[in-house]
Amino acid sequence: MIRIRPLKRRSRSSVLSPNRSYGRETKNTERGHGGVVKAIVAMTRKRVIGYNNKIPWRLPGEQGWFKEVTMGHPILMGRKTFESIGKPLPRRRNLVVTRTGNFTGIDLIRDLRVFDPAPYESDGKEVFVIGGAEIYAALLPRCSGIYLTLVKQEFDGNTYFPEFESEFVISETMRETPEFDIFLYKRPP
Ligand SMILES: NC(=O)c1ccc[n+]([C@@H]2O[C@H](COP(=O)([O-])OP(=O)(O)OC[C@H]3O[C@@H](n4cnc5c(N)ncnc54)[C@H](OP(=O)(O)O)[C@@H]3O)[C@@H](O)[C@H]2O)c1
Repeated sequence: MIRIRPLKRRSRSSVLSPNRSYGRETKNTERGHGGVVKAIVAMTRKRVIGYNNKIPWRLPGEQGWFKEVTMGHPILMGRKTFESIGKPLPRRRNLVVTRTGNFTGIDLIRDLRVFDPAPYESDGKEVFVIGGAEIYAALLPRCSGIYLTLVKQEFDGNTYFPEFESEFVISETMRETPEFDIFLYKRPP
């Protein structure tokens, strides 16, 4: 279970324009089987999440938030994100999605279409989808919620978070800082 105290509740409105479509040419095609997961992401208002396989910013408190949410839980990521991080993140089961790559110290997920989070969910653990763009695009249809950090400064980028505003609404504002705000998006009931 994650224990995070929300700052305040927001109505079902979106801070982001719901009809804009950005992102790379990834498509929501991997609608696979199995259970539901949550995503965690940091993006700018122009939806930038990465640049040349790196996260373009380092903001005080942002990594701490990521740790707070994911610590102890399994984290699912694409091979490029895993290579960008460079090693398994500690005290979390690292699930890396790759068709052909081989790495040690992690669990390999070969086919997202048949990925089932259930085996990783014992003892109240939840699987968090931590990126990048390809994996978000593939799994957002199976996400019940998104912890979204909205970075206020704009940064150059070439990797973008897919459109999600037509499917999700803000449920809570988790944190507000000068550099970023954090929202929990959920699917409307
Ligand atoms: N701001 C944030 O919150 C955040 C979070 C995470 C990442 N990022 C950024 O996002 C960027 C990386 O994103 P990305 O979209 O380029 O790459 P990615 O999603 O991290 O990884 C893509 C790789 O995942 C594997 N894959 C994708 N779909 C698959 C499927 N259906 N079955 C099996 N394997 C599959 C493939 O690996 P193989 O080629 O090995 O088969 C593919 O090349 C980086 O810049 C990173 O820093 C930002």
